[in-house]
Amino acid sequence: MNRISEDIIEKIRNTIDIVDVVSEYVQLKKQGRNHFGLCPFHGEKSPSFSVSSDKQIYHCFGCGAGGNVFSFLMEIEGVSFLEAVQQAAERTDVELPEFEQPVSTRLNTHEAKMIEAHELLKKFYHHLLVNTKEGQDALAYLSNRGINKEVIETFGIGYAPSSWDFGTKFLQKRGFTLDLLESAGISIKNSEGKYFDRFRNRIMFPLWNHQGQVTAFSGRILDDGEPKYLNSPESDVFQKSKTLYAFHLARQQIRKKQQAILLEGFVDVIALHRAGLTNSIATMGTALTEEQIKILKRNVDHVTVCYDSDKAGIEAAYRASAMLKAAGCEVRVAMMPDGLDPDDYIKKFGESKFRTDVIGASLTLMAFKLQYFRRGKDLKDEADRISYIDQVVKEISHIEKPVEKDHYLRQLADEFSISLDALKSQEFQLSKQVKKRDNEGASRNTIFNRPMLPAKKMLPAYHNAERLLLAHMLRDQDVAFKVQDALGGLFNIEEHSAIAAYLYGYYEEGHQPDVNAFLSRIEDISLQRVISEISMLLINEELSSQELHDYIKQVLNYPKSLKIKEKEAERRDAERRQEFVKAAQIQMEIIQMKKELK
Ligand code: UTP
Ligand code: MN
Repeated sequence: MNRISEDIIEKIRNTIDIVDVVSEYVQLKKQGRNHFGLCPFHGEKSPSFSVSSDKQIYHCFGCGAGGNVFSFLMEIEGVSFLEAVQQAAERTDVELPEFEQPVSTRLNTHEAKMIEAHELLKKFYHHLLVNTKEGQDALAYLSNRGINKEVIETFGIGYAPSSWDFGTKFLQKRGFTLDLLESAGISIKNSEGKYFDRFRNRIMFPLWNHQGQVTAFSGRILDDGEPKYLNSPESDVFQKSKTLYAFHLARQQIRKKQQAILLEGFVDVIALHRAGLTNSIATMGTALTEEQIKILKRNVDHVTVCYDSDKAGIEAAYRASAMLKAAGCEVRVAMMPDGLDPDDYIKKFGESKFRTDVIGASLTLMAFKLQYFRRGKDLKDEADRISYIDQVVKEISHIEKPVEKDHYLRQLADEFSISLDALKSQEFQLSKQVKKRDNEGASRNTIFNRPMLPAKKMLPAYHNAERLLLAHMLRDQDVAFKVQDALGGLFNIEEHSAIAAYLYGYYEEGHQPDVNAFLSRIEDISLQRVISEISMLLINEELSSQELHDYIKQVLNYPKSLKIKEKEAERRDAERRQEFVKAAQIQMEIIQMKKELK
């Protein structure tokens, strides 16, 4: 499976600096021996993500992510080990021999086949749309919507004919099993066991994973029928909650412009790309998810939400922007006249007006909320007015910058001719409560930019002893061999035994201590995390034999102490049943066992 030789991988590993690679994604600040930054793998406001240039590894004390440069690329780019090695190689002078270029080796054959089927079908649908008589109506429909040849090419749009099993037959002839086609969502099996096409007489929009491979389709009906859009079902290669439409097309622009435009409908994405706003992406007809936010956060901080300006769209924009904000994004919300979606707007008023009057005039999150709270209220009515003012003051109490707070309070005071002092004191009360809650929640560290040092974990003694042992073993092979003699694989934590086993093997093959190199041999991501976390533990360089002995003792004693607890329960049981002789016998055993603990 591994088609890049160990030597080359090692060369790349030794040439590349993890700090440089991580810096492409995360702003790092040097602090002592390590570099710190905001973790790209989970939303946080104070940096708990650290990179060690000595050890060439990273670890997040917040979410536990960790590993070496290859693990980092795998996690952040969502690629396989081989692809990560390749991406790393591109940053160095090390050349990969031609035949060693990985060809999507990440995918197991089942998933690779599912994608291959989608890719073939996409080409077939596209051909039908642009070259055949059958596709003529669909082509006319698209051109009517302003979707020209060029856009059709870029987005790989096609047409599914109105036959029952054209696609199924087409792929079957090319060696795909009906079983596979069904699990890919391309074919449907009816109650009589016959297979037919899911998509018939629809305009086909391929949906891609973030590497740009087609994993699903959405098909639009040509007239007013239902459902308007039919999507592929979820499968091993397609999960709506993790998909952002056109992400692979938009990613570079998103990074370059440091801004993403988030839309609700993928047809809107197509319209915006056409208008030159190629940093647009969309959810797949479902509410924005935390997973999608994570993907965005790795690439960008500024997100402009531009949803339909109808009731449902505004509600969804409110929820999406709150989630983005909570994840630490700078959010703006772009609004359109009532009832329009971005695609309609562009059609009606043109691309340039959309850029200036919608995106260009997008609201700050606060300004959007002020509008949002007004909806459905009659501000001439006293009760409505009071409830509106309350909502706004509450919102202002969450603002961190005093100048901004003051601005909105004044605006509110002016608009409703109320006393600024009264508003201020109400806001002050609320803001005190907010701060208190934040402190209690402890999730928000207000001292921005100060690295959160690893909270001392309250672990049981044996657990700590195992971690410290492994930390020393990773640095010193003599310690590792001593532990091997005394303990072998008898660690109490399963992951620790596994790590120890790998480590014994690593040293036995004659390798020198090097966490970075060691990590390259570990495929399991959860083990990688534990290893990098342990490597980041601050330990003394030297390990005295007394210390070593104590740790080993702790590890060996733990199962014994469990046994003693069992025995004690047995004894109490015997006492309860008034079997005093038996109880005394058990007590003797306990005393003996306790002696052995010493
Ligand atoms: P809309 O109903 O706003 O459609 O749904 P639209 O994007 O404006 O499409 P056109 O302009 O009428 O062709 C927004 C999104 O919700 C999903 C699709 O992803 C669509 O882009 N959707 C909508 C479905 O999945 N199924 C449906 O039946 C309708
Ligand atoms: Mn529309």
